Amino acid sequence: MRAELICFEEDCRARFPITEVIYNCPKCGGLLEAAYAVPAKPADEWKALWRERRMSNAPLDQSGVWRYREFIPFLDDYSGVVTLREGCTPLLDAPEAARYGGLDGLTFKHQGFNPTGSFKDNGMTCGTAQALRLGMHRVACVSTGNTSASMAAYASAAGLQPIIFIPHGNISYGKLAQALEYGARTLQVEANFDQILALVRQLADRLGIYLLNSINPFRIEGQKTIMAEMLDQRDWHEPDWVVLPGGNLGNTSAFGKGLRELCRMGLIRKLPRLAVIQAEGAAPFYDLLRAEDRSALRAVGDPHTLATAIKIGDPVSWPKALHEVITSGGVVERVTEQEIADAKAVIGRCGIGCEPASAATLAGIRKLTKSGLIRADADVVAVLTGNLLKDPDYIYRYHTGQLDSPDGSRIESTFGNRPVVVPNQPDRIAELLAE
Ligand code: F0G
Repeated sequence: MRAELICFEEDCRARFPITEVIYNCPKCGGLLEAAYAVPAKPADEWKALWRERRMSNAPLDQSGVWRYREFIPFLDDYSGVVTLREGCTPLLDAPEAARYGGLDGLTFKHQGFNPTGSFKDNGMTCGTAQALRLGMHRVACVSTGNTSASMAAYASAAGLQPIIFIPHGNISYGKLAQALEYGARTLQVEANFDQILALVRQLADRLGIYLLNSINPFRIEGQKTIMAEMLDQRDWHEPDWVVLPGGNLGNTSAFGKGLRELCRMGLIRKLPRLAVIQAEGAAPFYDLLRAEDRSALRAVGDPHTLATAIKIGDPVSWPKALHEVITSGGVVERVTEQEIADAKAVIGRCGIGCEPASAATLAGIRKLTKSGLIRADADVVAVLTGNLLKDPDYIYRYHTGQLDSPDGSRIESTFGNRPVVVPNQPDRIAELLAE
């Protein structure tokens, strides 16, 4: 099975060996993607093979990424793959969230159940495998937190040195703590995500460090399997909509590519529509979709949102993401801080929970059903990208009425749930609980 890197730009499409250490097209600077000639096989055979592997105890088969290895065939040899049993994340029905979102029913694909608590693990097992194959010793990324936590874990498990660059004071402690515990060299830079990405790209070339940001095409391959697993769990019935938060837009690119390829392989018959939701203070992709001229994205110089995971003003993967949204007949919506906070509390009350960026999905769904773009009876899967425990500070503040927007305005704790201090007196406590 021949794998190659191909420039994503329509009028370039230059091809390079799969083992070349490049992140952008050396000819035109465009984004790169992995491409394959997948051997023709009846769809039912792929379905049966992948389903059968769920019964296996082999590490590769237990991984929700490598179980679908024929769908991401960029390696010649799987002996060096490091898996922490990523993927294998549940589909959860959430009736209360559905009602809040204006839908008859809603299913969450919860990527927060991953080993480091976010969807980044799906991509990182692939990025790390490629780093090992290329003989790299050090890997680096800039991150709003989850990528760094994931890269730190996978690199350390693989015997590589992880080096992470994060915006000083702008990531949650939960995520920073993970990176430290997993042994990453951690550099907190006094700049925002977009500025640090430019810096790290320079340093990676100069120091021979392998870059594992989502610009890395192999991470995108791993993230494609989120769609394969979701469809496998639904016995290959396509939903009408897949809703996801948008930051650097790697996931949007991955989901779109994955769904198109599954369609080409005959595993599904129609493309679900992608709905990408951004935070109002960091919504350059939303603006792009509404611009007359879509040939260049206008970066937001000073992005702001409490959903720090998606606090990105200049998303690198926008050309791919734009293609995927248009191809799928999708939409881009934006939501306020208050809308994210309330939607997050509702997801919590379903007994599910997630981090702030993930809750943008439900907030977006609520808006899109109100405007009539998504019908109440639509079949919708929303992807919760990160675990509730990633950002406990945000949660405590929301429930105790102390959460402020980046502009200083107070966020109302519409669904607040304050802890109560009580004396050590059974009668008093019984009285309180009788209320
Ligand atoms: N949700 C969470 C929890 C994230 O961590 C991210 C991205 C996104 C959504 C947006 O995904 O970038 O593919 O559009 N976090 C990156 C990081 C940027 O560094 O951890 P995207």
